Amino acid sequence: MNNKTHFTVSLLIKAMLCLCFPAYAESLEPLAPLPLTAPENSKRTALGERLFQDRRLSGQNTRSCATCHPLERGAMDGRTRAEAADGVSILRNTPTLFNVGFNFFFNWDGVVTTLEAHTEKVMLNPKVMQATWPLLLARLGADPEYQRDFGLAYPNGLTQANVVDAVTHFERSLITPNARFDRFLRGETNALSADEQQGHHLFNSLGCVACHQGINIGGNLFQKFGIFGTPKDGAKVADDGRYTVTHRERDRGVYRVPSLRNVAVTAPYFHDGRAPTLAVAVDTMAQYQLGKALPAHERDLLVLFLKTLTGEYRGKPVVRGMAEPG
Ligand code: HEC
Ligand code: HEC
Repeated sequence: MNNKTHFTVSLLIKAMLCLCFPAYAESLEPLAPLPLTAPENSKRTALGERLFQDRRLSGQNTRSCATCHPLERGAMDGRTRAEAADGVSILRNTPTLFNVGFNFFFNWDGVVTTLEAHTEKVMLNPKVMQATWPLLLARLGADPEYQRDFGLAYPNGLTQANVVDAVTHFERSLITPNARFDRFLRGETNALSADEQQGHHLFNSLGCVACHQGINIGGNLFQKFGIFGTPKDGAKVADDGRYTVTHRERDRGVYRVPSLRNVAVTAPYFHDGRAPTLAVAVDTMAQYQLGKALPAHERDLLVLFLKTLTGEYRGKPVVRGMAEPG
């Protein structure tokens, strides 16, 4: 059998399987549900959780990771852009940390590819945590509880690598299963209304899914922001995106495609927080990523679908970041 015949026969078999077994057709869906349970809740995860909330992790004892990533509020700060430690400069829009362990690259420009590398970078970043290793190890080492618990969690106790490891263990535990869309993917067909199902259909048929895909519905690709023209930049803040990492001309204005999980509670949107609402973000995407002016009812159906992507953290629905979206 030559390749072409093989292809045609396998297509025919697939089509027949789809007709006879709807569950098989479902398996062709390019999106996948989150696992129902987080990785094992070990001593390391618990230690990481304490570090995450601890202001002693910042150079001036003024901020913890939770200051900008509060877990009870969407794991992001709800601001347009985060404020740097110097109180003057501004950073990018704060991404949620929920489901961060499923991303392939971190930060809007994908500057690092592992959570471990990200953790070390953010702790030492003078604009974010402003710490140094000698300072951190001395502070944590002076606390008998940390001494004891690092000793219980790691054979070699409190070290630089183990601090990073504990924080990343905790980050990987931040999963939000049971979004209505995940329940739908698992076979609960009435978990989505007819309109929400239409929104899901549009998401796939219009091509949103070509960029926002996989288990995190994003987080695994780089794409130019503005394939069909340049999106209007209300904030007028220069940001070269991935170019700042690679210095390749073709990476100017390229960003990591963000995960859309819990997106209904993480306004404002985009790397500079320029879009205050999901409706604005979806219109921008349709126009500049797909080259389409969406009829309002299609945009509304897409927004309804995006609202079904909100999951649960420790059994409770994820709720909105601190600031009110405009
Ligand atoms: C001042 C607010 C602020 C603080 C404090 C802060 N972050 Fe962030 N975080 C941000 C911003 C803003 C970004 C996006 C940075 C960028 O893309 O340039 C980010 C990005 C991240 C990311 C990447 C997420 C992704 O999907 O790309 C992780 C992981 C993260 N932070 C973890 C932490 C940890 C751990 C701490 C504490 C050690 C911390 N953050 C402290 C604001 C903050
Ligand atoms: C060609 C790739 C591509 C396509 C197609 C695409 N997106 Fe995006 N999407 C991106 C990129 C890149 C960003 C980040 C842009 C930035 O911040 O500068 C993004 C951001 C978003 C955001 C904001 C998320 C956040 O947390 O800030 C939403 C919402 C979104 N997209 C929805 C959609 C929808 C709905 C569609 C289909 C109508 C779509 N996207 C099509 C690449 C794409």
